[in-house]
Amino acid sequence: RGPEPYSPTGQPLDVPPSDLAQGGAYLTTAQGLRLRDTDHSLKAGPRGPVLLQDHHLREKIMHFDHERIPERVVHARGAAAHGVFKSYGTATTVTKAALFAKDVETPVFVRFSTVLGSRGSADTVRDTRGFATKFYTTEGVWDLVGNNIPVFFIQDAIKFPDIIHAAKPHPDREIPQAQSAHDTFWDFVSLHTEATHHTLWNMSDRGIPRSYRTMEGFGIHTFRLVDAAGATTLVKFHWKPKAGVHSLTWEEAQLINGMDPDFHRRDLADAIEAGAYPQWELGIQTFPDTPEQTFEGIDLLDPTKIVPEELAPVQPIGLLTLNANPSNFFAETEQVAFHPGHLVPGIDVTDDPLLAGRLFSYLDTQLTRLGGPNFAQIPINRTHAPVNDMLRDGMHQTAVHQGVAPYRPNSLDGGCPFVAGAQNGAYVEVPVEVAAAPKVREAPASFADHFTQPRLFWLSLSPVEREHVIAAYTFELGKVYEQTIKERNLRVLAEIDPHLCRQVAQGLGLPAPEPSQPLPNPRPSPALSQVGDTWPVT
Ligand code: HEM
Repeated sequence: RGPEPYSPTGQPLDVPPSDLAQGGAYLTTAQGLRLRDTDHSLKAGPRGPVLLQDHHLREKIMHFDHERIPERVVHARGAAAHGVFKSYGTATTVTKAALFAKDVETPVFVRFSTVLGSRGSADTVRDTRGFATKFYTTEGVWDLVGNNIPVFFIQDAIKFPDIIHAAKPHPDREIPQAQSAHDTFWDFVSLHTEATHHTLWNMSDRGIPRSYRTMEGFGIHTFRLVDAAGATTLVKFHWKPKAGVHSLTWEEAQLINGMDPDFHRRDLADAIEAGAYPQWELGIQTFPDTPEQTFEGIDLLDPTKIVPEELAPVQPIGLLTLNANPSNFFAETEQVAFHPGHLVPGIDVTDDPLLAGRLFSYLDTQLTRLGGPNFAQIPINRTHAPVNDMLRDGMHQTAVHQGVAPYRPNSLDGGCPFVAGAQNGAYVEVPVEVAAAPKVREAPASFADHFTQPRLFWLSLSPVEREHVIAAYTFELGKVYEQTIKERNLRVLAEIDPHLCRQVAQGLGLPAPEPSQPLPNPRPSPALSQVGDTWPVT
């Protein structure tokens, strides 16, 4: 057992004066010097000039000047809460993760977010919502960094900058946010038809949740669980809200945005403060870990595909309760750093190419956003498990490390021996075979079908839900300036369902195309891309 987190001497660190807030008996500078006046600068006479030797003035202004950190490049606007996850014990058949043993209670921090708006944007926009959970387990931090929609726009992380550039505000005018009035977004998703499924979910009522408390959450990717004997199972994670799934109508969402842009944030905080603690059940869909990693013909590595619950029911494995609001938005909600690669023994990743890119991206962005490599030491990010790492120094280092030999092997500081295998509770990656295959950039053929599942989703909707989808497409595409982009999107809709396409076309005052008119090739090879925009989908 190593020393306690970031207290290498084993002694609690002193409470920094700033934790006392402004309610103490007297104010001080950051150096602890008592102040008699924080309202007036030091001057040569009452009418000045102001003197440079006023350290309190300079310290106060300097610190204020640096209060903001970069907002997240995506998911900038969020609201969060503390809570507890209590395991039912039902997942012990498929994973050895300690947090899933029966009745184990694990502290959690959950951050909900919109994706595209900036930190100060409105809550009830049509957008995907983030649903990120940090589990402070006894074996280290596990982050389940999901969304409220079970599929994603892209199959390969290399397209993430493209979809986000297309969906974020225009670089010249910085308008608009989300999918409204956005030629670039609708251009991208109609040229890149693997986005069709996610876009259709966004245009459904799922794109405008009533509350964070009434959203589902999805891990989206397929993960690999490992049991105590080393047997593996592929799974998808689902959060099911106890309050049910509820959405706003578009008219409600627009009115609320005008009247209370903080609607979701307020709703979450008020509910917790009133003791109406939001709850979700965590569930898993399980699939045999076969070499093909498919289930009923569905490629489990394709994040644009779901596995219908009729084929693989969601099995409940535990209950999440959010029971405390953050005490400081910046310290907790803003500085929390989630990462899909924060795993614990019993949970591993798969080769989903979208997940692979995420494993790089989050650490990388947090290095900039949180000002250097020591953000794991920020209180909200600290694991509740003992830490004994060999990471040293760097910007914003707060630990006072002991010893002289932060390297291994060494004969000076001693240190804990490594025990082979998992006997010491160490994380051991599942030794899956890596295929002896040529290096390629092409996607697998099993990723090529972009319309069967959107059609499945459309057909699963009730008549009123379909009306909402038609109205949403008509409204959003009605705001697009370029006629060709509207027409190309109608061709995508024709591939989903002729009725949907006709209704939207009518709303736009355009002719409805027939299905199977040539669509842009979603993944033109370098040679084909020279030729243009109308290659039939293969
Ligand atoms: C942030 C979910 C794909 C890059 C987030 C957050 C969520 C999320 C929930 C907000 C975390 C928070 O509240 O702090 C997802 C899901 C994805 C996905 C469910 C697909 C299944 C990607 C991909 C990339 C990416 C493919 C890049 C290759 C980022 C970055 C942030 C972020 C850079 C900001 C993180 C930070 O500043 O701390 N994502 N994301 N995401 N995501 Fe993703």
